[in-house]
Order: sequence, then C-alpha cells, then structure tokens
Amino acid sequence: MIDSISVPLQARRPAGFALAIALLFVCAPYAQADDVRAPVRHRSAIASAYPLASQAGQEILAAGGNAFDAAVAVSAALAVVEPSSSGLGGGGFYLLHRQSDGYETMLDAREKAPGAASRDMYLDKHGNVIDNASISGALAAGIPGEPAAFEYLARKYGKLPLKQSLQPAIRLAREGFALYARLQGGIRYKRQVLLRSADAAKAFLTADGNVPEVGTVIKQPDLANTLEAIANEGAKGFYAGRVAADLVAGVRADGGIWTLQDLAAYRVIERKPLIGEYHGARIVSASPPSSGGIAVLDSLNILSGFDLKKYDSATRKHLIIEAMRRAYRDRAIYLGDPDFIKMPLAQLSSQDYAAGQRSSIRTDKAMPSALLPGIESEPVGMQTTHFSVLDAAGNRVAATISVNLYFGTGYMPPKTGVLLNNTMDDFSTKPGSPNEFGLVGATANSIAPNKRSLSSMSPTFVETPKGMMIVGSPGGSYIISMVLLGTLNYLDGMNAADIVKYPHYHHQYLPDEVDYEKGALTDAEIKALQDMGHTLTLSGRQWGNMQVITWDYASGKVDAASDPRGEGVGLVY
Ligand code: DON
Repeated sequence: MIDSISVPLQARRPAGFALAIALLFVCAPYAQADDVRAPVRHRSAIASAYPLASQAGQEILAAGGNAFDAAVAVSAALAVVEPSSSGLGGGGFYLLHRQSDGYETMLDAREKAPGAASRDMYLDKHGNVIDNASISGALAAGIPGEPAAFEYLARKYGKLPLKQSLQPAIRLAREGFALYARLQGGIRYKRQVLLRSADAAKAFLTADGNVPEVGTVIKQPDLANTLEAIANEGAKGFYAGRVAADLVAGVRADGGIWTLQDLAAYRVIERKPLIGEYHGARIVSASPPSSGGIAVLDSLNILSGFDLKKYDSATRKHLIIEAMRRAYRDRAIYLGDPDFIKMPLAQLSSQDYAAGQRSSIRTDKAMPSALLPGIESEPVGMQTTHFSVLDAAGNRVAATISVNLYFGTGYMPPKTGVLLNNTMDDFSTKPGSPNEFGLVGATANSIAPNKRSLSSMSPTFVETPKGMMIVGSPGGSYIISMVLLGTLNYLDGMNAADIVKYPHYHHQYLPDEVDYEKGALTDAEIKALQDMGHTLTLSGRQWGNMQVITWDYASGKVDAASDPRGEGVGLVY
C-alpha cells in the first residue's frame, strides 16, 4: 500500500547504490584477563543491507536482547524494507556462536520442496525444460523457512519474546518506510511480474500500476498482520491457522502445489557448521545444503600449500582462481541436501584431497576446466541479503537469507503480505540444463519431495588468536568467491572497510573464464593472466553487498562495514 506523501530518506547515498548500514554502539566493559580471546572491552555491532533493519536490531539489543534476538529483528525488518531480497516467504542460513560456552551451530531455514514436488516437474512431456517454470508463479516456490527460524532463534537462543523482537518490523510494515533508489530499481525491473499479482502490485506499485517515486511511503498492512500472527503465536501463526490457509489458497490459485500439511511439517534443522583451518586461522562456515562452507574450505586447503606472499600479484590471483575452479567443480558434482544424498564431505574438506587438487595447478599456466573430470557450472546472482551481528557478550550471528531472485516469484498470495520465493530454481531441473545462475546440476541436487535445494549462501566466521571476522554476502554463485577473497584479505590484515569494497574476481569452473569487476585486475595482471591461458571477462556489473564485522581482541576494537556498492552508512553509538 502506497501513501502519496514523500518523506526524506535518512542517510541516502547516490542513486544506483544499494543501501546498507553498519551500526556500532558502545556497550559495557567485558573482561577476562587470562583469556587471549576475551577483550578488555568491545562494542556491539550490526551490519545489514538497510539502515532501518540495522536500527531494528539495535533497538532490540538496547532493550536487553542478545545477538540472536537482534537477528530476528533484523531479518523481520529486512522482510519489510528489502522485500526484493529476503522475507517471510523465503529462507536462509543463520550461523550462530554463543559466547558463554563457545557453542556453534547453523540453523538451516532453507526452503523445502513441497510434498507433491517431483524430479521432472519443470519439464514438458518431451522432457524439455519449460521456460520460467521454476522462476515465475507459485509453482516455483518452496515451503518457506524464515518464520520458523524466528521462533527457533527466540525460543532456543534469544532472551526476548517474539512479541518484542518483531515489534520494529511490525511498526515498519504498518507505518511504512520511504522508498529508496535501489528498491525502486528492483520494482522497475520486476514491474511486469508484480502487476500479475494484485496484492504485490498494491504493495509496491502506484494505483495505476506504475513505479512509485523515491521517498514514497510504502505501507504493508497485510504483512504487518502476518508478522503480528507470528509475534502472538510463534511459527504456528504462519504455518497454521488463517495465514497458512490464505497462503495455500493463494498458491493453489496461482498453479502451485503447496498443502497445509507441507506448511505444518516445516522444521528448522540445526546443522553442525563446517570447520577448517588456514594458516592458523579457524574458519567456521555454512554446511550443506549450502555449498558455501565446503567450497571456501576446499579453496583455502588448496591455497594452504602455496606461500602466496612469495608470488607477484598476478600469480597470486592466478593461484586463487585455480583454487576456485577446482572447488566450484566439486560443488557442482557432489553437493545437495544432506538429508537426501550422501556427500564425500570428509574427503572434500581434507588436506590430502586438496593436495591432490593442488598437484594439478601450475604456477605459470591456467588449466582449462574441460581437463577436470565432470560437468556443471553457475553464474551471477541478483538479490538476497546478508547481515552480521555481534553483541556485547560476544554472541554472534552471520545470516544470509533470501527469496532467491528479485522479489522471488513476485507473487503474493492474497491477504498475506508475503512474497513467495523462487528457490525451487536452485534445484537442477534437468541434468545439464542451467538454472537462472547458469548452474548445471547433477543428480545430487535433483528435485524430490521435501528436499532442500543446494545453496551458495556462505555465512562465515573467521577466527585467529588475535581477532575474528563475521562475513557474508548476497551474489548467487559469486558469494563463495567473495567470501573466500574476504577471508584471505582479513588474514592479510585488511580492515573491514577495505574488505567490503575490495574489487572481486571469480572463477566457477564453468563457464571456463575469470569474471572480474572494474579495478580487480591491473593491466599488467590482465596481461599476465592471459599469457597463462586464462580467458578474462570484465563484468558489466558490481557484485555483492558484503556485511562485515571485525573484532580485535587485544584492543577490543570492533569495526562494522557495509559494502559501498550498496547505499550503506555507518552509525556509531
Ligand atoms: O541460495 C542460493 O545460492 C541462491 N538462492 C542465492 C541467490 C542470490 O544470492 C541472489 N543474489 N544476489
């Protein structure tokens, strides 16, 4: 619902930039002199893709909540103010660290295929992929996980009731927020799709179906009601009762196959994060059904056999690219939902395996991907969101959450205010046929009832004896390479602000080319890499929206930084 009043944006950055924020606020002293990991004092921090979402988290921390309560508040606020990227109709992964006992876990709130899903559901009777079937319309939507994660986080790890932590989001949905340039761009991009859904059009377009002006107040009363149902009843407020009935009716009216039983049966699954080591740093990252952790760890394992500092910059980048090539190949071939397939995780994350991969890397020459056995590939991402939280006690959250593509399916079941994801597109709809990210899937990631599709989302903690980093980004298949580069940069001593703005380069096995952002490679590096046999493509766009928090244990200094490719602003309290 759109009000015609324009209000000024707080802290706007130039149009075309995505809006992101880092909030820092000073908290009480924290001391344990004999523990090198316990600082004298540090500050709490939140880095998220939009100021109002970070402020929602800050409000909850200030009210006595911990990082896990703040994660609920930030996610719910993002569902309201960044609906193109994540929301109640989507899912994601929450990587958690509880400081009191060091307990680490990953909440898998990934969308699930509906019970009536089948391997060939997006193929016609001749076995050909039906255009857009896994992207548009309610048939493309998996059963959402985010609302279940809210209750799980609050009940098991938080200190505050959902009634309190969801309040900022409810307020934003009911009272509205000012449309900002990046979201307006997303609405323009998806206008035709939104027009096909009366409720989505009512929420995000003008009465005559046009794109609203920047500054227009966007109110979402139906979404406020759905959030309120979750605040009052927990996950049941979404997965049962009135909201569930409206969701299922809306999905089925749009050609989807959800049932009330699918919703009632949805559960968050706690999974053990993947843990690795790189030159003395401890890396904690997302486990399957994300491919992120395994691909980052495998890349680091491969690189650990090289003394990267001893090489010139072009050779260093070449070696990182060769590590990416090999890790992405394995991602494509082996990974999927751990509840459905067996994966050689111990092998893929072992140093011995990495040594084998490393032995095929020459320091002076690119290896064509075609020489590596296997198939697969994948390309650029569009939307999704990441946020990082550190509270005064040292609890941390790295969360990457999504509805997959911009506004997901763009379809909003009537009266729910909930935009449905199109995460079913992350499955391989047919062996050899690329998805929206160019992913060519293997059977490991084929569709089955109740299965979770393979993800690239990679929320990660990097810990050294001196400090730690909380990191993650949207960006589809590029997420993994961005998190890898962010990790290497942090370990090289780069600060948070420089890590988020670092120009990226990327290789994903297939297509066999290095994609790079402007500024990522010097002319000399480009020439050197081409001489080694790499095919280079300058990307026309900027990738990612990385949100980083770093904490230096000795000084207690905390930094939070948002990717300047977004519309970020840092606020210090
Ligand atoms: O889970 C995944 O890998 C994708 N659904 C993420 C999509 C994404 O990051 C789009 N981004 N910019």
